[in-house]
Formats: sequence, C-alpha cells, structure tokens
Amino acid sequence: MIKTRAISNPTYYVDALNGEFADYAFNEERAEEFRGRWREAAFGATVQDALDVEIGTGNGYFFAHQSSTHTDRLLLGIEIKFKPLIQSIRRALKLNVKNARVARFNASFLENIFDEQEINNVFIHHPDPWNKNSKHKRRLMKSDFLKKLYTLQKPGSFLEFKTDSQDYFFWALEEFKNSSYKLERYSEDLHGSDWRDENFITHFEKIYMEKGQPIYYLRALRE
Ligand SMILES: C[S@@+](CC[C@H](N)C(=O)[O-])C[C@H]1O[C@@H](n2cnc3c(N)ncnc32)[C@H](O)[C@@H]1O
Repeated sequence: MIKTRAISNPTYYVDALNGEFADYAFNEERAEEFRGRWREAAFGATVQDALDVEIGTGNGYFFAHQSSTHTDRLLLGIEIKFKPLIQSIRRALKLNVKNARVARFNASFLENIFDEQEINNVFIHHPDPWNKNSKHKRRLMKSDFLKKLYTLQKPGSFLEFKTDSQDYFFWALEEFKNSSYKLERYSEDLHGSDWRDENFITHFEKIYMEKGQPIYYLRALRE
C-alpha cells in the first residue's frame, strides 16, 4: 500500500484527508500514533467511552447511520481507499455527529494501530469475497486475522460479519469455529431472520438484495 504522503499526483480525496478533513480523517502515520490512546487523542473522549470500529466503510451509509444513532459510543471507520474514506466521514459529519472518525489503513495490520483490548464492537459488512480458490488467502476473515482481532477487542464485545457470498460465509464460518470467538447469532437469510428489523441495509447489501440473493450474517462474541 502506497503511503498517503508518497502519492505524487494527489486527487481531491487524498488532499482532503490531510487538509479539509484532517481533524476527523487520519492517514497511516497519524493512525499509528494513536495506538493505545484513540479515545482521548483522536476523539477528545475519555478512556471509559466505548470505541467501535467499522472495517471497510465503503461509501459510508452504515457508518453515518451507526454514528448518528449511537451518539453515546465512538465509531472509527477503517478504509483503504481514499474516495470511500472521505465519502464516509463527510456523510457522517453532515449529520452533525461528534463521535465519528476515519483512518486510511489496511485492516490486515490492525495491531499496528490498536493496543490489546483497546476496541469494543467491530462491524465488517460485505468485505471483498475473493471467491476464486487461488485468491482465498486474500480474504480478511481468516484465522490469523480473527486471532489478532480477538486480542484487540475488549471482553464482552462482539464482531458482526455480513456477506452476500455463500462461499465466503461458509469458509469464514469454519475459521470462526476454530477461533476463540463464541458464535452468538447465525443466519443464512438475514432478511428473513429474527434480526431483520434491527439490520441496516448497506450499499452493497442493497445491490445484492435487488438481485434476489440472500444475505449471510453472523455475530460472534469476544468473551
Ligand atoms: C465491497 S465493499 C463494502 C462496503 C460497505 N461495507 C458496504 O457494505 O456497502 C468493501 C470495502 O472494503 C474496503 N477494503 C477492502 N480491503 C480492505 C482492507 N484490507 N483494509 C481496509 N479496507 C478494505 C474496500 O476499499 C471497500 O470500500
């Protein structure tokens, strides 16, 4: 991943990360500086506040919804691409939220920006499925990632995972079963399940629903 500062022909979104949105959006170097002190240093909050993380915010509809409906919690969005990163924070700030921040970072290296047990709930919605057999190793929800994430979450928090890919879901389910997480909820058709009323339909989810595809869902507890 090219570091933001090394990009020679910055787009509006690259510039916005270091300029217009610099109080709310952080490049990789700044994100690493917040390790162990996100609440106080990045949010101006207290160590008692709950800090949730969304990985892969995309264009930020869930990010804006979640931060504006859970104003008693902090929400940090991690996104590798500049355009969705800025779209996400802009969408949230338009709702006048005070509890939202984003960081440009590769989620495969979360241990570089979070200390052990630093974060609360984690949301991962429709991560890239890498469905070809030869590309499975690129999937995020694999055992070494789950092992790492488990150590970074506080006991009593959860990890929520949704995908439109049946293949990815069952593959990830095996990884979860071999991890320390405890499976709390599980559905092969989220929109036909008991949890449909509390679900927020993300941008990618809408696209796949319109194609008539079921949405796979699980929630795992970090005990
Ligand atoms: C398929 S989109 C889903 C977006 C959104 N969660 C939704 O449900 O509409 C996946 C997003 O994850 C981001 N992404 C992919 N790999 C990532 C990584 N290693 N670290 C951080 N973000 C990543 C992509 O840039 C993209 O915005």
